[in-house]
Amino acid sequence: MFKKTPMAAGVAAFATLLFAGGSAVADTGNGYAVDYTAMTPHELAEYLIFEANDGGGFNLSQEMQEGGTARDRMQQDELQIACSLIDNADPDPETAAAIREAAGESIVYPEGGIQLGDWERGRELAWSGFGYRVGHNYDDHDARPVGGTCYNCHQMATDRTGGNVGPNLTGYGKTRGTSEAVLKYAYDMIYNPHVYFPCTHMPRFGASGFLDDESIADIMAYMFDPESPVNE
Ligand code: HEC
Repeated sequence: MFKKTPMAAGVAAFATLLFAGGSAVADTGNGYAVDYTAMTPHELAEYLIFEANDGGGFNLSQEMQEGGTARDRMQQDELQIACSLIDNADPDPETAAAIREAAGESIVYPEGGIQLGDWERGRELAWSGFGYRVGHNYDDHDARPVGGTCYNCHQMATDRTGGNVGPNLTGYGKTRGTSEAVLKYAYDMIYNPHVYFPCTHMPRFGASGFLDDESIADIMAYMFDPESPVNE
């Protein structure tokens, strides 16, 4: 769906043709003109959503907080390309092994080992979607940490409502305990879940740099601390 480069190139090609031929074109106000009638419905939909910013579109040219533009964010990395090709199904064993190995190499453990932090801060982070948002002013990460958005996909405790894209994590620490192996598994899942689920939809919070050591420790405390509402 997000093949931005060919799409943009296609639009630019349209524009050149139209200018050369002197056809009726719509000036979109963002650098080039397009003939809507020459587009397939799919192209038109993509154009209106991602390119036609004067019409309230997404505007992929806008600059992002981490540098680059929104368009750069839409570029898939190798892992995403491999998983998109098979619609996030199970890859063949060779591809799966390569993905898992690369994911494993990305994981960095905190000095002094995996720790549980402050579950109350972790509760807020599990809920929060703050940070690096598109279409907002830049988020002040000094004033407020980047969130984990866990609740978008997971139910975690009964005092908040969560999504069901991922498994229900209610009672996680109570049912699994806090052995070294369990804590490492949870840490790995938060840092880079592709190490266990090659084409998972869960984000790579540690590997992508969205959650730092302290935030991961706090979210893990939320999952494992006996005082946390997750383990009521
Ligand atoms: C975009 C959706 C999404 C988000 C956001 C997300 N997860 Fe997940 N998570 C999943 C999916 C899906 C799985 C199941 C693995 C699979 O099949 O891909 C999963 C699995 C897990 C597991 C393993 C569950 C088990 O059975 O042991 C843990 C732990 C976990 N997630 C924790 C978190 C935490 C903590 C956060 C927030 C920092 C988070 N997830 C955010 C989608 C998500």
